[in-house]
Formats: sequence, structure tokens, C-alpha cells
Amino acid sequence: MENIIIFDTTLRDGEQSPGASLNNKEKLEIAKQLESLGVDVMEAGFPISSPGDYEAVKTIAKEIKKSSVCGLARAVKADIDAAYNAVKYAKLPRIHVFLATSKIHMKYKLKKAESEILKTAAWAVQYAKKKTKDIEFSPEDASRTEPEFLYKILEAVIAAGVKTVNIPDTVGYATPYEFGRLIKGIRENVANINKARISVHCHNDLGLAVSNTLAAVINGARQVECTINGLGERAGNASLEEIVMAIATRKDIFKVKTGVRTKELYKTSRLVSKLTGILVQPNKAIVGGNAFSHEAGIHQDGYLKERLTYEIMKPEDVGFGETRLVLGKHSGRHALRARLKKLGYTLNDAEINKAFGRFKRLADKKKEVYDEDLSTIVEDEIGANIQEAYKLESFYIISGNEVTPSAKITLKHKGKKIIAISTGDGPVDACYKAVERIAGLKPKLLSYDLKAVTAGNDALGEVTVRMRLGKKEVNARAASTDVVEASLVAYLNAVNRLLFRKQ
Ligand code: KIV
Ligand code: ZN
Repeated sequence: MENIIIFDTTLRDGEQSPGASLNNKEKLEIAKQLESLGVDVMEAGFPISSPGDYEAVKTIAKEIKKSSVCGLARAVKADIDAAYNAVKYAKLPRIHVFLATSKIHMKYKLKKAESEILKTAAWAVQYAKKKTKDIEFSPEDASRTEPEFLYKILEAVIAAGVKTVNIPDTVGYATPYEFGRLIKGIRENVANINKARISVHCHNDLGLAVSNTLAAVINGARQVECTINGLGERAGNASLEEIVMAIATRKDIFKVKTGVRTKELYKTSRLVSKLTGILVQPNKAIVGGNAFSHEAGIHQDGYLKERLTYEIMKPEDVGFGETRLVLGKHSGRHALRARLKKLGYTLNDAEINKAFGRFKRLADKKKEVYDEDLSTIVEDEIGANIQEAYKLESFYIISGNEVTPSAKITLKHKGKKIIAISTGDGPVDACYKAVERIAGLKPKLLSYDLKAVTAGNDALGEVTVRMRLGKKEVNARAASTDVVEASLVAYLNAVNRLLFRKQ
């Protein structure tokens, strides 16, 4: 299978996303991750654009060894000099020269005639070529350029020595069929095209960047320019992760491969999102938080019977961890049973039915039902099954501002009474320490909440505790007119739940 060169421009076009600018340290961190990801070329910046960008490209060029490091330049001497001076430290340096070729750009932006553009392009390539071997040329706004003029300019730059001719859909105007035909037309009409590789660079203004890129691949493009998370000018560039996974998943259609280590995709996406501050939408293909989540009961049921019913890629192939079956109001019994099993509860049909009813009522109120909610539901619903390993018989406390708080607790365990005495920072702490002594456990108290559930002097105090033992976390609750008793019973309930989970 032929290889597709992955040209990542996250650090150049991606950084042109409004609000995405990165400092040099951040750019280097991303560059290193792009190298681990296995991109063939990284466009590290536009060195003439600012002293900071120049320095960033230079630093990246010095550090990166496996990927080619590229700097962007307009077809002018100062830009090419700056790009070369920044990338020359790289093991594999590349200069990317661009010049607009569409009528609109030539007339209004450059105010130059076709003949002048043709001369400038050839001159720029020859000039860059004297500095380093690997030169890429982009006729900016190629998709809106007159095809005949495009063929002419490509022939001229190839004759001048470029190795890669990049066809940008600068304003995201092309459609897949049309863009594919443009690449085919270039292959058929540019006499020396076999001396260069065809690359494409698609913007996403109509949401077609990835489709256009893939249409170009089918028609012979062998380099694709793209960015992590599809970042880039305006609506962004073609997304690297989507292109790579489309090629990997539909080998039958594309019949090409890439050198990207797909297991690094999610990590790279997270890093870019963190450093640019641009969040990834949850439903983004490949790297969105929901890309491997199923909520509909029918889907969850199908997935549990056979993954392939609803999954075309494995989450672990993109480094995502595992498929998530989100338990919400659309979920069914099958998913609930599977999740409970994973949490360690094997319930009979009657118990499942009871838990399912409670679960659905909760799901109507909450967007997502978490594992902790499920544990509480199950343990409440089938509470009888939680063997109360320890039961409170009696307690006695001494507390005051001139004594050390202490507690004497009597618990019943396997028919026997066990007594422990302890001191603590307060009466509740003393009680908890005494319970720990009897049970031989030292759980971590994560939270303790006390609230009045009724009004007046005889109000019921309700205590909720959250505790962790090893990897297990539980919530427990108790109410009493005596807040120390409520605290003690809530703690004891949590200890019993932890022991139940342990079993
Ligand atoms: O979109 C574009 O045309 C560009 C060029 C510099 C390749 O980013
Ligand atoms: Zn661009």
C-alpha cells in the first residue's frame, strides 16, 4: 500500500485559530507530541511573522529529529531567508513557499498580472532551492484558480525544483467531487507532475475539509495537510485524526496507509486543547468525549451482544481508554445489569426489576446516572442483602470544653458484643476511632455533612458521610435527634457497605 505523507500544520495554520496563540514552550511541547504521534512533516510556524515565531521554529528545528520541520514563507526574499534561518537546524528542513494564483487574489490583493505571478513563483522556488533541497510550493486559493493557469504555474515551480506541490482550498469553497476532479486534472495536464508529490490543504468553511482531502487522496494526492482537532483559520483545517482514522478504517476504499501511531491521537488532542484553551466539542469525531459513548438502550443492548453492531473503531486504537455505556433515561435493563455486574453486584431478576425502576426514576431527573448512584440504589433496594456486619448496641460519650472527648462504643458482631474506648478531637471523632478499632479498618473520611431535616429544637439531624477504603467509595446516611448518634450510625452504615463491597 502506498504511504500518505501526513503534514501537520497545527503549529502554523492551527495557531491562526482566533485565540489559540501559543508561547514557545507550549509550541515545543506540542511539537514533541506530534513527533511521538508520527507525523511526517510539521509546519512549525511562519518565521517572518514575529520574532517569537521565528524563535519557536528554530527551537523546534533543533529538538525534533524524526519529523521534517517546515517554515512558511511568502514568495519574497526576506520571508525565505527567515524561514531558512529558522529551519536550517533541523535534521530534515523544509521551506514552504506560497503565492496566490486566483483571479480575485491576484487582482485585489497582489495587484499583479498572471505573467508576473508566474515569474515570481519560479524565482522564489529557485531562490529557496539554493538554501535547502526540500521545497514545497502552494498556489494559494488554488481551488478558485483558473485550471489552465494553475497547470502552468505548477509546471513552472516543478521545473524550478519543488518536491511537493500543495493545492490549497484556502477558503473552503470546494466540494468533494469537484476537488477530486481538480487533482485528477493536475495529474493529467501538468507535464512534469511525476517529478513532484501532490499535496492538499483544505479549509472547513462548508464543513467539507476532510471529505475534500479524502476525495483528493482517491484521485492521487499523496500528502495531506491537516491539524489536530481541526484547528485553523476561521472554521479550521481538515482534522488530522479524522483523516488518519478514515484511511485506517476504510482501507478497502482508500487503499493507502499512514505512519501515524493512532494510539497517540487522543493524548495529542487533549494536549492541544489544553494548551490552546480551545475545547473539543463532545460529539467531535474520533477525539470528542462522546465519540465512544452509547446511551440508547437499543445501541447498548446491541453493543453488549456484539461490539461491531454499533462500533466501527475500537476506542483503544485511538488511545481513548474504553467504550462508555452512559446510563441515562434511554438506557435499558441489559446495560444496567452489565454495569452492576462490573460494579460487583450480581442480582436476580426480581432485584434487577426493582433496581431498574429506581434507576429510571432517577434518570428522568438526572442527565447521567453514575456508578455511585447505582451502588446507592442497589444497596438501598436490596438493603436486606447487605449483611450488617456491625450493629450499634450502645454508646456513651464524654465531651466538654475542659475534658478530652472520649467514647465508649458497644457493637454487636456475629452475635457477640464488642466494646472499644477511644479519645478523639471531638465526640464524633472519638466514636469513629472506637468503631475503627472494633472493625479493624481505617477508611478515609472524604466528606461529612450534617443538616437539620426538620425545624425546631427537636429537629432530626441527618448526617451523610462519604468514605473510601482502597479503591472503593461509599456514601451512607443516618438521622437522629442526637447528632452524635446520627454521625455514629452513618459511619457504621458506611463501614458495613465497605465490608459488603469487599465480599
Ligand atoms: O490556506 C492556505 O492557502 C494556506 C497556505 C499558506 C497554504 O494556509
Ligand atoms: Zn490554510
